[in-house]
Amino acid sequence: MSTVLIQATGLTKTFGTVTVLEDASVSLYAGEIHAFLGENGAGKSTLAKLIAGVHTPTRGTITVDGRQVAIPNPRAASALGIALIPQEPQTFPDLSAAENIFAGRQPMRGGRVDWARMFAEAKRLLSTLGVAIDPKAPARGLSVADRQMLELAAALSQDVRVLILDETTASLTPGEVKRLTVILRRLQSEGKAVAFIGHRMEEIFDLCDRLTILRDGKIVGERLTCDTDTDEVVRLMVGREVDLLKSRPSNTPGAPMLEVSGLSRERKFINIGFTVHKGEVVGLAGLVGAGRTEVARSLFGLLPADSGAVRVAGKPAAIRSPGDAMRLGIALVPEDRQQHGALLPMSLWENASLAALPRISPRGWVRDKVARAMADGWIGKLSVRCRDAEQPIRELSGGNQQKIVLAKWLQTDPSILILDEPTRGIDVGAKSEVHRLIADLAEKGVAVLLISSDLPEVVALCDRVLVMREGRIVRELARQEATSEAIIAAASGLTEATA
Ligand SMILES: Nc1ncnc2c1ncn2[C@@H]1O[C@H](COP(=O)(O)OP(=O)(O)OP(=O)(O)O)[C@@H](O)[C@H]1O
Ligand SMILES: [Mg+2]
Repeated sequence: MSTVLIQATGLTKTFGTVTVLEDASVSLYAGEIHAFLGENGAGKSTLAKLIAGVHTPTRGTITVDGRQVAIPNPRAASALGIALIPQEPQTFPDLSAAENIFAGRQPMRGGRVDWARMFAEAKRLLSTLGVAIDPKAPARGLSVADRQMLELAAALSQDVRVLILDETTASLTPGEVKRLTVILRRLQSEGKAVAFIGHRMEEIFDLCDRLTILRDGKIVGERLTCDTDTDEVVRLMVGREVDLLKSRPSNTPGAPMLEVSGLSRERKFINIGFTVHKGEVVGLAGLVGAGRTEVARSLFGLLPADSGAVRVAGKPAAIRSPGDAMRLGIALVPEDRQQHGALLPMSLWENASLAALPRISPRGWVRDKVARAMADGWIGKLSVRCRDAEQPIRELSGGNQQKIVLAKWLQTDPSILILDEPTRGIDVGAKSEVHRLIADLAEKGVAVLLISSDLPEVVALCDRVLVMREGRIVRELARQEATSEAIIAAASGLTEATA
């Protein structure tokens, strides 16, 4: 039996009158990768935050190496060798990547920050992680994945004994997940304890030795990975059977809805051309950094292209702002819900109705009642776990925030829907709801452009898949050709056999 590094006993966390975690006990062992599993809002992040000193428990104790400790803040956790890569990393946008990594503990020399050493060290850490982030450039505009990599670099630069990853792989592509896996395996072999939160079953079964399953704030089971299977785990998580994603029936696409030709923007994407027809779901696949998100943002008027042309419903379209895009019936569900998607202090119903305001209240009156009723509809349809529609969205778990951002854009009744990682962080049950929703929209004639790093999702939903690499579309795969292997091969520039 390996040694217990951290033992949490009877952890309970209450916000106001709501108990979000109740009587949770887990042991993190040296040399083990331990998954926390559960639906959106089950309490996984809360458990992680209690161990990492982001929240303090209402009741319960934590021991490290058998000694009871208080972890009142992240600094105390860090002193105990505990690091958390949060689901929503807080990055200082004006500071450089290196300063973010070493925030508060920059290498010093003669009473001053040793910039040369800090940049060199940051560069080394980032290259270990295989990410192309310039250590000297401001962190502004970095994707969620990149910001999580900064957090991971920060954790690795210290002497971590317990590393907790809260959905770190959600926004990574298979290649990057592989690289992360190598790092986690190394930590494991060094006798560190790793806690891993995620929603992709395959990945969890590959990586983890032990599973703790949460439901509604309670631990409902602990298993050794070798003693269980996906079916049992999903059943424990949701308390019922879920029918997982099958293949979407393909329908005959209609007239061209979105036509893009020769779209370029310096250093972001080059000569992008494709067409999405009415009722068609077209996938945009590629590694993180391939330029997929930039293309989406450009089509939505957020990142102007230097050259190229766009036609919407057969007519030339000049899209210079999101307002232009929305008037043309385009909606973009962004990848980064906190930076671009949700207004955190506002209530759930306000967030959900925001983009549809012009439609709900044509004369500029906000019809609260209508908006609230619509929000209630979405809460039911997407099983959003919340108190009610009045709850501020920042109090929702990550996956539930994502559902509201999705609702906000679906509410606008778009004819062209661009989805950037729409199910990132969404649990298995809700994910199948979102997939059904996308299939229904296509059935109704909506043209869908789907960016997703979840390959089974791309394969199941898309009529065609465009693969981007280094800013260009390098491959178009018809439905029959679009297997996970073929997509990975095209995205990484390998032949299928080597991939
Ligand atoms: N500050 C807060 N105030 C009130 N409720 C909160 C607060 N923070 C979290 N909660 C609630 O606690 C519950 C558990 O949230 P938690 O973030 O732990 O879920 P999770 O399992 O990580 O879900 P996900 O998979 O969506 O990330 C949720 O219902 C959430 O709304
Ligand atoms: Mg969470």
